[in-house]
Amino acid sequence: MTTNRPTVIEVEHLTVSYQAKPALLDVSVKIESDQLIGVIGPNGAGKSTFIKAVLGFVKPDLGTVLINGKSAQKAKGEVAYVPQRGAVDWDFPITVKEVALMGRYQKIPWYTSPKAADYEAAFNALEMVRMQDFAERQIGELSGGQQQRVFMARALAQGSDILLLDEPFAGVDAATERAILDVLERAKNSGKTLVVVHHDLSTAAEYFDKLILIKQRMYAYGTPSVVLNEDLLSKVYEGRLRIFSDIIKKGEA
Ligand SMILES: Nc1ncnc2c1ncn2[C@@H]1O[C@H](COP(=O)(O)OP(=O)(O)O)[C@@H](O)[C@H]1O
Ligand SMILES: [Mg+2]
Repeated sequence: MTTNRPTVIEVEHLTVSYQAKPALLDVSVKIESDQLIGVIGPNGAGKSTFIKAVLGFVKPDLGTVLINGKSAQKAKGEVAYVPQRGAVDWDFPITVKEVALMGRYQKIPWYTSPKAADYEAAFNALEMVRMQDFAERQIGELSGGQQQRVFMARALAQGSDILLLDEPFAGVDAATERAILDVLERAKNSGKTLVVVHHDLSTAAEYFDKLILIKQRMYAYGTPSVVLNEDLLSKVYEGRLRIFSDIIKKGEA
């Protein structure tokens, strides 16, 4: 299938290690705009490392990452990041509104305060995730799913066209999962490209346009019907997957 969509993320031969132990080996992938991309693979496969390498948070041993044709350094502000919920200190005393406004800080020079346009972008982002009524609440008082949505608002407020999210569905109930998926889909329909680490194979085909299957190396990249293939999944998940037939059926649907 060919599309006219521009490539927004181009990863070539990406190799990343921690203390000489490789977490990613020779990963190459081109991600086109206006899509919802899922990153799947077992625990410890390097999914979070992939996201961090695209953001420029970890330095590759080898390989390159280009964002809109530029290095991560030069493309600062063009990619927004929603970290895994476990990586955030939720006791930090800050309101929902302030978290959303944090998304604007890269755009606000150090010698000025946020302007009306910054408050407006933060408020619009809270509306987009349907958390505007909670603007004055402390972040620590919210449920896990609400916190997740506020962090999505922070990323949306930044105004970047590329969003990277690390397991946004982890530990939320079914209704919240729907609400988060709805935000992702609306963001995509407004012209954003979203790369989402996802651990639940049973929903991967339904949620994403394309999947990246990694376990240190990239095993596959393509539509769910191509990637959710029994041979590939059994290679990557080994004995850890019991419900192959169910997932594969969904992949073909
Ligand atoms: N900061 C770190 N220091 C050392 N090892 C790490 C670090 N972060 C991740 N790793 C290791 O790198 C591998 C990939 O981790 P990660 O990218 O978090 O995988 P995933 O997100 O798929 O679970 C794992 O073996 C993990 O233990
Ligand atoms: Mg991870």
